Amino acid sequence: MNAKIAGVGYYVPENVFTNEDLTQYMDTSDEWIQERTGIKERRFATKHKETPTTMGAAAARIAIDRAGISPEDVDFIIFATLSPDYYFPGCGVLLQRELGITKTEIGALDVRNQCSGFIYGLSVADQFIRSGMYKNILLVGSEMHSMGLDFSTKGRGVSVIFGDGAGAVVLQPTEGEGILTTKLHSDGSYAEELALINFGSHGGYHDEVDYGYPDPKIPGGLFATEKMVTEGMMYPYMNGQKVFKKAVVKFVEVINEALGSTGLDKKDIDMMIPHQANLRISQFVQQSMGLPDEKIFNNIQKYGNTTAASIPIALCEAWEAGKIKSGDLVCLAAFGSGFTWGSALVRWN
Ligand SMILES: CC(C)(COP(=O)(O)OP(=O)(O)OC[C@H]1O[C@@H](n2cnc3c(N)ncnc32)[C@H](O)[C@@H]1OP(=O)(O)O)[C@@H](O)C(=O)NCCC(=O)NCCS
Repeated sequence: MNAKIAGVGYYVPENVFTNEDLTQYMDTSDEWIQERTGIKERRFATKHKETPTTMGAAAARIAIDRAGISPEDVDFIIFATLSPDYYFPGCGVLLQRELGITKTEIGALDVRNQCSGFIYGLSVADQFIRSGMYKNILLVGSEMHSMGLDFSTKGRGVSVIFGDGAGAVVLQPTEGEGILTTKLHSDGSYAEELALINFGSHGGYHDEVDYGYPDPKIPGGLFATEKMVTEGMMYPYMNGQKVFKKAVVKFVEVINEALGSTGLDKKDIDMMIPHQANLRISQFVQQSMGLPDEKIFNNIQKYGNTTAASIPIALCEAWEAGKIKSGDLVCLAAFGSGFTWGSALVRWN
């Protein structure tokens, strides 16, 4: 049996944060942000009320309902995020609890592939359905970037890009075509080019930097030191230009790889949903693939880059807008931290 996407859902917080709002905290402008990224505004979660898990659950409830099942029918959860509620346990089990799933005949897996997290999760779900191991897999991508960004001018090269939100799909077996293929890639030699290394267990292994670890006799000693906090060493780092240059090449490559392995052509794509990294990257992909405007969906203007959530949010919005119909060939593709990248071709049921 192949796997199909049986239900889609998304949730974004109510709180709209515009580019103009960012200028209260850092030296930036609406013009700079729009010109470089296409982003006009993003959503930020409500303080003390929302987390990646609660947002993921809101998206999941919609996807579950649209798949015609109830939460208790879910037999496997895959949760992709880079901004989990806790360092451990991961959001998978928290989502199980949040959805009120009390049975224990269920597995919960956490995926840590950042912007490619949804594609990686989709590929894992596809294999589990094909093997017959599970029948109703809930795949969620959810992020709460607003918790961990540097909103001072020092962090503006990173912070203006990201937003909060969640998307979910339910995967089920189908006698139809469903997911035709998924392609996954990684290149760890770029690991630190887009990374949040603190708080982690590296203990200064990769560099000579003094992170303020207390006692040399206890390796590492602490995840988090006072120095990390006071000197702002716990924010994400991004080499924007390196990411941009690599992304535009890998997006196109991995889409062509998926098309080639299924004997399909770029002209066969009815809807392209790229990870919403940057509108300029999406436009480059569109041009390279020769896709007309109506065959590519972008919503980064409204939500910023929501990392693991961006593809399922865009997929759901496109579907709700009637832009994806039965029989359509939908192409999903992502690139991000790792570097990791991937693609999927789905024949919509
Ligand atoms: C992040 C990105 C928009 C930055 O654009 P860029 O053209 O590479 O800009 P640079 O980092 O070279 O910085 C250019 C100048 O703008 C400034 N700048 C950076 N961020 C700014 C901001 N938010 N507002 C105003 N100025 C800013 C820099 O300080 C720099 O100033 P300087 O020339 O005086 O030193 C761009 O590199 C990008 O989109 N990369 C891909 C990122 C991405 O997709 N990430 C997600 C991966 S999934």
